[in-house]
Parts: sequence; C-alpha cells; structure tokens
Amino acid sequence: MQSRSSIGSIVSANVRLTDVMSHLSTTKPRVVICRNLGPDVMPLLEGRSDVEVVVWPEDSSCDRAWLLEQVNGAAGVLLMFPEKADKSLFEAAGPNLRVVSTMSVGYEHIDLTELTNRGVKLGYTPDVLTDAVADVTVMLALMAGRNAGSTIDLVQSGQWPKFRWAPFAFCGPQISTLPSSPERTVGFLGFGRISQATLKRLIPFGITSCIYTASPNSPPTHERDSAILSQYPTLKTLRRVDSDELARSSDVLFVLAPGGESTKHLINEEFLRKMKKHSVLVNASRGTLVDSDALAKALKEGWIWGAGLDVVEGEPNITLDHPLVKEPRCIILPHIGSASIETRIDMATLAVNNLLAGVFGEEMPAQLKV
Ligand code: DGY
Repeated sequence: MQSRSSIGSIVSANVRLTDVMSHLSTTKPRVVICRNLGPDVMPLLEGRSDVEVVVWPEDSSCDRAWLLEQVNGAAGVLLMFPEKADKSLFEAAGPNLRVVSTMSVGYEHIDLTELTNRGVKLGYTPDVLTDAVADVTVMLALMAGRNAGSTIDLVQSGQWPKFRWAPFAFCGPQISTLPSSPERTVGFLGFGRISQATLKRLIPFGITSCIYTASPNSPPTHERDSAILSQYPTLKTLRRVDSDELARSSDVLFVLAPGGESTKHLINEEFLRKMKKHSVLVNASRGTLVDSDALAKALKEGWIWGAGLDVVEGEPNITLDHPLVKEPRCIILPHIGSASIETRIDMATLAVNNLLAGVFGEEMPAQLKV
C-alpha cells in the first residue's frame, strides 16, 4: 500500500522536472478508502499492484479534511453513509474521479446530480444485506411489542429482586396468532426486498393479512403479489392500499422505504393518530421517514403500543434527553440493521469489487443506474 505522502515527497524533493513527469505518467489510479475494511476484505485491495490504495488510518469515522485532501486526483473513493459525497467532495476530487462506491444500500448521502453531471459511476450494496436487516426488523417488532426495553432495564438496574410477578405485568400484544386471536395484519410502508424478506420471516407467526403502500410512481404489482400469495398458502390477503388504510389496519407497521425529501415525515402526527392502540411501529430504513416528536407524543399518550427503531432522524446525535430515548416503550438501536459479521464482509467485498470495476471501466457488480 502506498501513501499519498510518497507523491508529495517526490514533488517536494529537488528533482528534475522530467523525473516528476515520468513519475506522473506511470502513476497508478489512486483509490481512497474511508475505513479499514478488515482482514477478510483488505487483501482484495492490498494484493493489487495496479492501484495505489490510501486508507483512513484510524479505527474511527474518516476525518472530512483528510478525505477532501486525499480524494484530490483520485480515480475512486469507497465510503459509507456517514460520509457525504456532495459538491465539495466532487470538487476536491476533480476530473479523474470515475467511481464512488458506497458500502450501503442507501445512497441519500450521495449528491446524484453532481455525480451524473460529472459522469461518475455509483456502486452500492443491495441484496447482500437484505436478510440481516430483515432479521433485525423482526427482532425490533418483538422487542417493542413485548416490553424488552423496560424488562431488560429492570434486570440491569438490579431491580428484579424487588419485582412482584403479576399475571399481566409487562404484558404486550402478541405478534403470532392464537385460536382466540386468529387474525393479524402486518403493514409495510414500502414493499421492496427487505419488506418481502421480513414478511417471509413473519409467515410462520401466522400472519393472515399483509398490506403495503408504495411510491405513486412504482409500476403495478399484481403479478408479483399473486406469486407471493401462492408462495404462502396461510396468507389470505396481500394488497396495496392507501396511507389511511395502512395506518388504520396494521397491527405491526414496518417502515422500510428510502429516505430523502420525498418520504420525509410520512409517519407524522396525523398518521399516528389513526393507528391501532395496540399497534407497534418499526423503522429500519431511514430516520427521516418518522417525525420523532410526533412518535414520542403517540407513545406518551398511548395512541400506539410501542416502537422499535434502528434509525432516528438526526442520528448519531441522539442523546439521553431525546424525546424518544425517554419513552420506555421505544426500543432504539444505533443503526445496526446490517451488522452481522457475514453481511458486513459481503457488503465490504461488494463495495471493493464495485470500486475496482468502476476504476478500470469494467462492468460493476452492483451499479446504481441513476
Ligand atoms: C444501508 O446499507 O443503507 C444501511 O442503512 C447501512 O448499513
């Protein structure tokens, strides 16, 4: 691995201009990697003799000033969703930049207009994280419904010895169906890959009905839905509905849609007021979809039962005085939906492969067609 400072030292040494020119003409394309990707993935880069690899040297978020300096003249940059690829980054990179590779399925942190205007390609990591995120999504629904926050807190604060077991203490709504309660409707705001993988996990719970909303621009989905229905004989209905029906009919509502301005605060006070009192809201996509103040009010005033969030608007600056952190029926995880060892290795591998393919003008394994 070669550090940028090696170029700097060549230029600053008192060498002949022709030496500098000859060095520059043989310079390999440089790629900037915003985090160390670990021992399973870094060899894919370190083993290459045809690229110069620059890696943020610390075990922490990449420093912005470092990134803007290193990206100057680079052919590719591999980043994650906390690092913004905005105008300042594209300007700092200059015309050599061929590819931005993000180790994420979401790409709200990339300025797509700047990217396309400059003819830069974008690689991302769909599919490989679907199962990991769907696992956490179901976990959040169970945790929020069954009071995991308060009950774990009881044990960890040493209060269990004082707790008097009581028939209905810490009870919450059950997701799985029972003979006495045979109908359950799950709702999805957005019904893409992760939603469908979540539904698959919920079918054995006896879910009888699934409703969802989708972007108004998305094509008709009858054929896909018939195929899903025939896959799960116990699922009686699968329907695209409007937002009003989604709010009123869901026992558990999963928010799994892209972030950005067009979906900002789709879950707001008006929506939450329509929801069932025993319903649970789960958000494992982007914090901006949910109005945090409205959700905190909904939980405090009992419009809904509980919430499970892997993402919160304004993250990571979510401190103890945040209204949602104060709500005992709100489970909050620090955006770890895809954080299984296997999935993160797959995501990092895909991000590296996208990067290298983009730099060398080859077909990228997962290019976002902007
Ligand atoms: C993604 O990939 O967009 C996730 O939110 C980060 O793991």
